[in-house]
Amino acid sequence: MSGQRVCVSDFEEDARKSLPKAVYDYYRSGADEQHTLVDNVAAFNRWHLVPRVLRDVSSIDLSVSLLGQRLSMPLCVSATAMQRMAHPEGETATARACLAADTGMMLSSWATSTIEEVMSAMTSSVGGGGVLWLQLYIYKDRELTLSLVRRAEEAEYKAIFVTVDTPYLGRRWNDVRNRFKLPSHLSLPNFKSASLAFSEGNYGNDSGLAVYVSKAIDPTLCWDDITWLKKHTHLPVIVKGILTGEDAVQAVNYGVDGILVSNHGARQLDGVPATLDVLEEVVSAVQGRCEVYMDGGARRGTDVLKALALGAKAVFIGRPVLWGLACQGEQGVSEVLELLREELRLAMALAGCRSVSEINRSLVRRREFTNRM
Ligand code: LAC
Repeated sequence: MSGQRVCVSDFEEDARKSLPKAVYDYYRSGADEQHTLVDNVAAFNRWHLVPRVLRDVSSIDLSVSLLGQRLSMPLCVSATAMQRMAHPEGETATARACLAADTGMMLSSWATSTIEEVMSAMTSSVGGGGVLWLQLYIYKDRELTLSLVRRAEEAEYKAIFVTVDTPYLGRRWNDVRNRFKLPSHLSLPNFKSASLAFSEGNYGNDSGLAVYVSKAIDPTLCWDDITWLKKHTHLPVIVKGILTGEDAVQAVNYGVDGILVSNHGARQLDGVPATLDVLEEVVSAVQGRCEVYMDGGARRGTDVLKALALGAKAVFIGRPVLWGLACQGEQGVSEVLELLREELRLAMALAGCRSVSEINRSLVRRREFTNRM
């Protein structure tokens, strides 16, 4: 076993050693040459923090409210698919860790646990605790899509995050090379048929998931489908995968309750900007008409602080949770969440912010770069 893990990269390193190669490759990869994958992380270093001092930072309040739900911190768990590849308890372990951390978890449509069992894991006998949201893929079969929404409503999920950047799956080279598919003991149990549960044996020479998406997911999706979705659910609808001010304004005009600035962990269109670099554009286009969150590349408390300063109401993490899960199941996810919480608390204190409401644009400054050859 490894020594003490002191940062998120330590969790990734240990996860890499313990996961089967095809699983690690699937979680880790970005699309194509992975320029955006690198840039999502690098973008945080393009901003300096500009601290204030002598402000009595003996007590720091990290709590926030997201769509009216109180969370203990502005750091939540983004949807990542097929978590039982990382640990036998998969999404249920993540849910229990989020409950303990009193924060929110977005469950993937492509979870390896059911909507209902993840809610049971998230439900505390003593009340309080975390919040669950459902990430939704819109299938060609709209009745099937709505059945997921209804199940989320019945299980008291608090919102639907509809993914809008995946009419087709981005091309991830390692997944093609590995002919990625689910290990045979797993399936996507929210679906009945083998074809929709991603448990058919053979997907040819391609990434199995890319084949699955091209068969099942609706590439005709357009803005009117947001209206369609909103008509069929009383839950708040958040669009996941917005990268421009123009699309953010469209989203607001279509009545969304929130926007998740995301490039899908750099797994869709390689070459798009890092999410941190477009966050401010989206926030200023929205002008407070809905909540704005971001995911992509946050690996440290200072990263979260920078994203909050640029206007995100909350920051979501994806891969770090998978690394925690792979290292030690629920305990590993808890460790990652608490590590980031403590890093954020320290970063806020050292920057002179006693509460999330004191974090604002004046806290960050874009670094000046000189031309280097
Ligand atoms: C992916 C899908 C599942 O990025 O979101 O692999």
